[in-house]
Amino acid sequence: MKKRVAALISGRGSNMTSLIAAAKDPAFPAQIALVLSNRPDAAGLETARREGIEAVALDHKAYATREEFERAMQEVLLAHNIDIVCLAGFMRLLTPWFVEQWSGKMLNIHPALLPLYKGLHTHERALADGVKLHGATVHFVVPGMDEGPIIAQAAVPVLSADTPETLGARVLQQEHKLYPLALRLLAAGALQIDGARVLITKESATTGALISPDL
Ligand code: GRF
Repeated sequence: MKKRVAALISGRGSNMTSLIAAAKDPAFPAQIALVLSNRPDAAGLETARREGIEAVALDHKAYATREEFERAMQEVLLAHNIDIVCLAGFMRLLTPWFVEQWSGKMLNIHPALLPLYKGLHTHERALADGVKLHGATVHFVVPGMDEGPIIAQAAVPVLSADTPETLGARVLQQEHKLYPLALRLLAAGALQIDGARVLITKESATTGALISPDL
């Protein structure tokens, strides 16, 4: 039985699209059963509908409190028999109550090599600090923002001519590979949370390193 996944979005939904594409493979252990947005104008809603996926907008502004909004989301998720929630550019902070409902079953993708650069404007901050490697992280969601056991990371070089836009585009390309990979591992039951660490069954060792600059 494939795991039923909900992608939570607020905007263009390019990571959602990468999950939908990956899930088309008959061997992929999950299906994207629902797309949920807190913004009715999120471009990703239309993309999902074009793919034949049910897409629901719950405008957070229509709810008096964060809790009420989350209870409405939870109802929709339960009504669709969702097993796994993937935050994919979902721009609302979640309460500990909601996070607890999905403990060990909710993932987030963040455009930085966590625990560096939690929060917004990650590419600007990486450039300002002069780091030579930057990247993306998929992690389990816990109450702290951009915290939680790390499942997978992708690193990219930071080049001298980079702007936040060019660096962000390089990171995003990797995000689109990384999120399907992490979801596949979770849906296949290959992940075990051990304190702050995620242990992965059947991983292979590599001696290679990504070194930047690559001259
Ligand atoms: C991505 O950079 C993701 O890492 C971050 O929000 C952005 C969402 O982009 N959490 P998209 O909507 O998936 O295109």
